[in-house]
Amino acid sequence: MDKQFLSNKVGQFTESVIREMTRQALLHGAVNLSQGFPDFSAPAEIKRAAQEAVAADINQYAITWGAKNLRDAIARQMQQWQGVAVDPETEVTVCCGSTEAMISTLLAVCNTGDEVIVFEPFYENYGPDSILSGAKPRFVKLSPPITEDGEWSFDERELRAAFHSQTKAIIVNTPNNPTGKVFTRTELELIRDLCVEFNVLCITDEIYEHILYDSTKHISMASLDGMKERTVTINSLSKTYSVTGWRVGWTIAPAAITNAIRKVHDFLTVGAPAPLQAAGVAALDLPLVYYQNLAEAYRKRRDKLVPILTEAGFRCFRPRGAYYVMTDISAFGYADDVAFVKYLVKEIGVAAVPGSSFYRDPCDGAQQVRFAFCKKDETLDEAARRLRKLHSR
Ligand SMILES: Cc1ncc(COP(=O)(O)O)c(C=O)c1O
Repeated sequence: MDKQFLSNKVGQFTESVIREMTRQALLHGAVNLSQGFPDFSAPAEIKRAAQEAVAADINQYAITWGAKNLRDAIARQMQQWQGVAVDPETEVTVCCGSTEAMISTLLAVCNTGDEVIVFEPFYENYGPDSILSGAKPRFVKLSPPITEDGEWSFDERELRAAFHSQTKAIIVNTPNNPTGKVFTRTELELIRDLCVEFNVLCITDEIYEHILYDSTKHISMASLDGMKERTVTINSLSKTYSVTGWRVGWTIAPAAITNAIRKVHDFLTVGAPAPLQAAGVAALDLPLVYYQNLAEAYRKRRDKLVPILTEAGFRCFRPRGAYYVMTDISAFGYADDVAFVKYLVKEIGVAAVPGSSFYRDPCDGAQQVRFAFCKKDETLDEAARRLRKLHSR
């Protein structure tokens, strides 16, 4: 096709590698440990609530920025879990997943030439999201732990050096995809101090907030002193309730920013699916024990997959939160992660995500591969069986 028909922005990024790996898994009949979606059922109560909502004819557009009862439930949860008071009338926008929440936020706050700080490795959407909003992503390294039990960490001086007069926002994803890092209070306070000093907005992606291990605690940036007025908190039903296909997420932000996000959101999508917003209220009202069971079930899956991968020859970086294991593949003797992942999906029958897709410079992720463990025991058992055929070259 004639190049002149295409936007310059689109030329600056590729299609999602993660979503491509799911297509590859289907093509080769591989066990799919690439894309982060559960292969088990969502809670029966919330499926029932969705069915009842359709039967009750909640089938037309909801209020563009979200059904009132869902916004109320979101505000209630933020108060309960994080002690942050939220006004559902002026500070909450329901979007089509946190994916739309992030792009709507960036479109609402960025001008051409603004910079957005992103920790890398990063969830791959943040790069294209920044570019589409006219901003320039600026990356700060998260370095892998030296020991299996260590933490991914950033260099304080490197982070400070990334902040300057063009910086509009910093994106913080905690618990983190792909590293499994859970940012500590000390780290968040350091980021907070820089945001205040340089007058920068913090956009936090907290969609794995309830998937935590080893007694780690999720701290919302908005709960830190001085941050509520400069934080956009993004969350969604997708991961906490195992409904990634429902496409219901949200932002919590100060009223003026919410106003801007609502305008972008309205013209991008009009609104998130109305019956699934109704079911979202049932989801957010689940009792405490639901969240305890969720975290414990994921802990068991983590503790099942890590030894499988270690035995197969991967060096695993043990996650503290979220449901991915980032691994080092240097023991296998492959020049790069893409060639290794192709071999893995075609010859071994297991799909994973090449590490390079989480870095600006592919070389930085050339010896890393990410596995998702939001899967049934049988799926992980089958992956284990297939991975036994794996050998170095
Ligand atoms: C960090 C992170 N943010 C956002 C998303 C997308 O979430 P949603 O389904 O709410 O759009 C994902 C999905 O894997 C993710 O890992």
